[in-house]
Amino acid sequence: MNNDNSMQNLKMTIHMQLNGRPRSFAVTQHMTLLDVLRDLAGLQGTKRGCDYGECGACTVILNGRAVNSCCVFAVQADGGIVETIEGIGSEGHLHPIQRAFIDAGAIQCGFCTPGMIMTAKALLDRNPHPTRQEIRMALSGNLCRCTGYVKIEEAVELAVKAISRLPEQKASLSETDAVSGEGMSHDAVGKAGVPAGIPAVADGKEGQA
Ligand code: FES
Ligand code: FES
Repeated sequence: MNNDNSMQNLKMTIHMQLNGRPRSFAVTQHMTLLDVLRDLAGLQGTKRGCDYGECGACTVILNGRAVNSCCVFAVQADGGIVETIEGIGSEGHLHPIQRAFIDAGAIQCGFCTPGMIMTAKALLDRNPHPTRQEIRMALSGNLCRCTGYVKIEEAVELAVKAISRLPEQKASLSETDAVSGEGMSHDAVGKAGVPAGIPAVADGKEGQA
């Protein structure tokens, strides 16, 4: 028993590019990427909802794919590139998707919004002109108790139009035009090369139970 406990408490160091910066964290084997982001990195824009892969509130982008960070062990993110809501925008410098969520009235309590936006970003990064059905499918793993989803889908369509009007700026959107997780209601304001071993999911999102 004591041996089991000491194994669980054993720390190892993982390294990642987090929102464009190299970061290292001492983690235990049972810690998730969500634990690292919220508890070690202090990035609380990423929400803990169900904590078992059902709600999508914890969505971040890992190696270009949207993942439920509550279902990704921290060690699986070792060597990875991680984007959170804090990395795509800041107060006064909104990412077009964040701006579109505000303009479309797609935010009510805001709890689901960071996850929705990260899922949408992962979608638009790989498919800049999705159909309404593709948007709906991409967001199908993200639950919202407030909006009824229509305005969220409209917001993503609005973002598509906004981004397509700024083609020359697409490449730098992640760094310059991105709503901070800190700036909106409940820090309001997509999922894509995931390390082997991360569970696949029904809606194309990785790391969902
Ligand atoms: S917190 Fe609900 S899917 Fe991760
Ligand atoms: S805006 Fe409240 S849960 Fe989506």
